[in-house]
Order: sequence, then structure tokens, then C-alpha cells
Amino acid sequence: MNKKLIMLLIAAIAAIFVTTGLQAGTEVDDTFPLQTPGYESRKKGEPQFKPVTFTHKKHAEDYGITCGECHHDENGEPLELTMGDDVQPCYECHNIFEKTKENRRDIMVHENAMHGNCRECHKEFNIAAGDPKGRKGPAPTSCTQCHEKA
Ligand code: HEC
Ligand code: HEC
Ligand code: HEC
Ligand code: HEC
Repeated sequence: MNKKLIMLLIAAIAAIFVTTGLQAGTEVDDTFPLQTPGYESRKKGEPQFKPVTFTHKKHAEDYGITCGECHHDENGEPLELTMGDDVQPCYECHNIFEKTKENRRDIMVHENAMHGNCRECHKEFNIAAGDPKGRKGPAPTSCTQCHEKA
């Protein structure tokens, strides 16, 4: 083999390593619908609402929220992460999809965990932005701002 060919081969192999290296870890879309499969099989029937579109990257970057404000471990302790790290989806732990009178305040109910995370932060943010009740402001808090009837 001539030198040029060997160089090309080395370059090709290096390229393969670089691409596979980039694929390690978890890819997460910049924006995705929150549409948890658990709701489809609940007794009460399918989701009441269309999926909420969630701007994951914007939240983590533009809004300056750390990963650990949303992602935590099995004890609810914030995780220290960087983009590309693996995380467990919320619904693997918050895996109760039947909201009843008895469990309506249980944080392990998926809906409560999502509202507890998303809405509570939005409220606080709007309060800091000047609305005393936190209902109005840049961050959505009313049902229809996040949900559209299915
Ligand atoms: C404002 C809240 C929030 C912030 C900030 C946030 N995430 Fe997420 N992330 C979510 C939600 C909600 C999901 C969807 C989980 C689900 O489907 O149950 C998600 C999904 C993911 C997933 C895909 C999980 C899977 O298996 O489908 C990864 C990976 C991830 N986040 C990593 C990160 C990292 C790393 C950071 C920080 C750089 C971060 N996230 C910041 C809320 C957030
Ligand atoms: C590994 C399991 C696990 C995962 C994954 C998980 N949680 Fe939790 N979460 C818990 C546990 C356990 C608690 C209760 C902690 C306690 O009793 O203090 C909790 C508590 C909470 C709370 C209440 C926190 C508070 O301060 O009162 C919210 C809100 C919440 N989780 C939202 C989420 C969201 C949103 C996601 C996904 C981005 C998520 N959780 C992923 C296990 C998990
Ligand atoms: C720790 C704080 C925090 C958490 C948690 C959080 N958000 Fe937000 N969110 C914000 C802030 C701040 C804004 C508005 C920023 C602005 O417009 O200045 C926002 C804006 C939004 C908007 C409107 C603008 C856009 O980017 O689409 C939607 C929709 C939204 N959030 C959905 C969600 C959902 C769904 C969750 C839960 C999975 C969530 N957010 C969790 C802080 C948070
Ligand atoms: C900040 C955004 C946000 C706001 C505001 C909000 N929700 Fe949600 N809600 C969510 C997210 C995210 C989920 C989880 C969806 C999924 O993963 O499938 C959810 C799930 C639900 C579910 C269970 C799924 C279904 O479709 O049956 C119900 C019911 C619900 N929300 C009702 C409400 C009501 C009623 C209000 C107003 C009091 C409200 N939500 C306000 C984000 C929001």
C-alpha cells in the first residue's frame, strides 16, 4: 500500500470513532411533545388533552434552569448533569396514571409531579416578574396555556 492510501484509511477509521463517540449518551430533542404512554391505558380513558409541547433546550439554556431543578434521583435529590448524560424519564418513577380522590395529593401521581414541577416554577417566576399571584406573566400557568382539549 502506498503512503497516501494508508493515510486515507487512518482518516476513515478515525472518522468512524468520532461519529460513534458523538452518539454515546442520550440524545434529547430540543423540543418535544410530553405525551406519556401511561395515560393511554388508564381506566379513565385516554388523555383529556393534546400533548404539551416542551422546549427542553430553551428551558435548560435560554431560561438558565439547571438540569437538577427538574431531574432528580430516587430520593428526589437533584442530579448534577451535563447535556448528553442519561436520565430516567419522569414517568418511570411517577408512574401512577389513575388520579383518584385518595391519591389526589400524592406526588408519585404523574400529573401531580408534572404540575408540581412545571407550574410551580412558572408561578414563582411570574411572581418575581411582578404579578403577585403569579398567574399572569411570561410563564404559562393556566390550564389552556399548556393544554388543548383532545
Ligand atoms: C425545566 C425542566 C428540565 C430541565 C431544566 C432539563 N430537563 Fe431534561 N427533561 C425534562 C423533561 C420533562 C423530560 C421528559 C421526561 C419524560 O418523558 O418523562 C426530559 C428529558 C430528558 C432526557 C431524555 C430522557 C429519555 O430517556 O427520554 C434527557 C437525556 C435529559 N432530559 C437530560 C437533561 C440534561 C442533561 C439537562 C441539563 C443540561 C436537562 N435535561 C434539563 C425536563 C427538564
Ligand atoms: C428515580 C425516580 C424519579 C424520577 C426519574 C423522577 N422523580 Fe420526581 N420524585 C421522586 C421521588 C421519590 C420523590 C419524592 C421525594 C420526597 O418524598 O421528598 C419525587 C418528588 C418530585 C416532586 C416534588 C418535589 C418537591 O420538592 O416537593 C416533583 C415536582 C417531581 N418529583 C417531579 C419530577 C419530574 C418533573 C421528573 C422528570 C423530569 C421526575 N420527578 C423524575 C422520584 C423520581
Ligand atoms: C425551574 C423553572 C421552570 C420549570 C421547572 C419549567 N419551566 Fe417552563 N418556563 C420557565 C420560564 C422562566 C419560562 C418563560 C421564560 C420567558 O418567556 O421569559 C417558561 C416558559 C414555558 C413555556 C412558554 C414558552 C416556551 O418556551 O414554550 C412553556 C409552554 C413551558 N414553559 C412549559 C413547561 C413545561 C411543560 C414544564 C414541565 C415539564 C416546564 N415548563 C417547567 C421556567 C420553568
Ligand atoms: C405548565 C404547563 C401546564 C399547565 C399550566 C397545566 N398542565 Fe396539566 N399537564 C402538564 C403536563 C406536562 C402533563 C403531562 C402530560 C404527559 O406527559 O402526557 C399534564 C397532565 C395533565 C393531565 C393528565 C393527562 C390527561 O390529559 O388526562 C390532566 C388531567 C391535566 N394535566 C389537567 C390540567 C388542568 C385541569 C390544569 C389547570 C388547572 C393544568 N393541567 C395545567 C402541563 C401543564
